[in-house]
Amino acid sequence: MNNEKIYIIAIDGPAGSGKGTVAKEISKKLHYHYLDSGAIYRIIALACLKQDINFKDNQELIKLLQKTYISFKQGDSFLDKQNVSNEIRDEQVGKVASQIAQNINLRNSILNYQRNFAKFPGLVAEGRDMATVVFPQAHLKIYLDASVAERAKRRYKQLILKGINVNIGTLASEIIARDKQDMEREHSPLAVDKDSIVLNTDNLSIEQTVNKILDYINTTGADGTKPSAKK
Ligand code: C5P
Repeated sequence: MNNEKIYIIAIDGPAGSGKGTVAKEISKKLHYHYLDSGAIYRIIALACLKQDINFKDNQELIKLLQKTYISFKQGDSFLDKQNVSNEIRDEQVGKVASQIAQNINLRNSILNYQRNFAKFPGLVAEGRDMATVVFPQAHLKIYLDASVAERAKRRYKQLILKGINVNIGTLASEIIARDKQDMEREHSPLAVDKDSIVLNTDNLSIEQTVNKILDYINTTGADGTKPSAKK
């Protein structure tokens, strides 16, 4: 049996705060495993859309979950055996993900699945409730934030690069609506954990954000390199 310690870095934050790219980069640098918990909600949302499931009906949603197989391989996301990495990034899928994420039965049923990503030597887990609910024992907790204006600007740039023409004002309104839904829901709302370090990325590049977090990891010993690392 492997008794070696598993280090967990939890990164939470609202949509567009940069947590996805940052978390992936840190996991690569530390050679840790990576969990994109939002992708799990998105895969379930896509399954609902594909099968025309009334996701507001608890029974239907749970029935769907029982027959849905979610997996990740080399950075790709799979619904049953289909690679849905691109499809799940669709705006409509994100909206449905945020709605189904309000369901406590669904949240509870994927709790252990998420916890099983914690494998030696460590895990970088990103989402909305990584620090508060899924990994309350995490060795380092980061809450990445950014203003609505900055997040809308980043999203605008991404979509324009993809050749999709959008209105930045509409994007800002959608971000505000999603924040509200994720922060005001009853179960596991997006919130800053009492132990989280809040980092505003408005004036930080991805690289600067990654370096700041690596500094926190070094100073706190959250990767086990210092004796001060939490037991
Ligand atoms: O992070 P991403 O935008 O992919 O997440 C999609 C939606 O899934 C979020 O808006 C949120 O409602 C939900 N989610 C969640 N808890 C997580 C990760 C995502 O409720 N840990």
